[in-house]
Amino acid sequence: MNLIIVKDYQELSQAAADLVAREIIAKPDTVLCLPTGETPIGMYRELIQKYQRGEIDFSEAVAFSLDEYCSLSPEHPQSYYYYMQHTFFRHINIKAENIYLLNGITQDIVAECENYDKQILENGGIDLQILGIGNNGHLGFNEPAISLNSKTHLVNLSDDTIHANSRFFKNIEEVPTKALTVGMGAIMKATKIMLLASGEKKTAAINKTINGLISTRSPSTFLQLHPDVTIIIDKDAASKL
Ligand code: F6R
Repeated sequence: MNLIIVKDYQELSQAAADLVAREIIAKPDTVLCLPTGETPIGMYRELIQKYQRGEIDFSEAVAFSLDEYCSLSPEHPQSYYYYMQHTFFRHINIKAENIYLLNGITQDIVAECENYDKQILENGGIDLQILGIGNNGHLGFNEPAISLNSKTHLVNLSDDTIHANSRFFKNIEEVPTKALTVGMGAIMKATKIMLLASGEKKTAAINKTINGLISTRSPSTFLQLHPDVTIIIDKDAASKL
């Protein structure tokens, strides 16, 4: 694991955007798999600025979204569809046909998940997987469990996650209890993985990711087995290492 500890959130966002830019410059048709949440917002902002300055061209890039809540329509401001479009895609020149987003309100979850895995494969797999991390060590919505699912699948969100994500909703009752997520298989098969974490609340999860026993109870520990992982964290998130 390549661990990069930076001063603060601003430096983290810059370092993350620099890594993405290097990948896209080296391979313009890079297949990205992208997270939502608070952590990557600064990285998306930096990437948009790089695009506006003419430093990166997304016209051949492909992007998959990592997960999606069930029961929220794409127009819902807390849906990951809405987040990805508004935070990133609509500000860059990625082609609409190269954007893949999970439909959380599908009538056929099995087909939706199978089709998503098929689309990832048809695009040659993920070149760069970008991840945030849950306080409980989840990656995407692969929650701590007795066993992990390698494929895109339906998840019952853990109480930890529902509680953590309630900060984005008016109250905890509004947080969806189910979600779709890309599975650990596609994540672990990505050529390169970049994990981002900021703030003291992530210290325990980061410590386990790097130094913990590999366990389905801490999904991020599986990253120890991946040959090309870069972890970028700020000093606060590194304070227990
Ligand atoms: C979101 C996702 C989640 C988040 C994680 C951290 O698409 O995949 O795993 O990355 O819950 O969220 P933040 O960044 O809000 O702390």
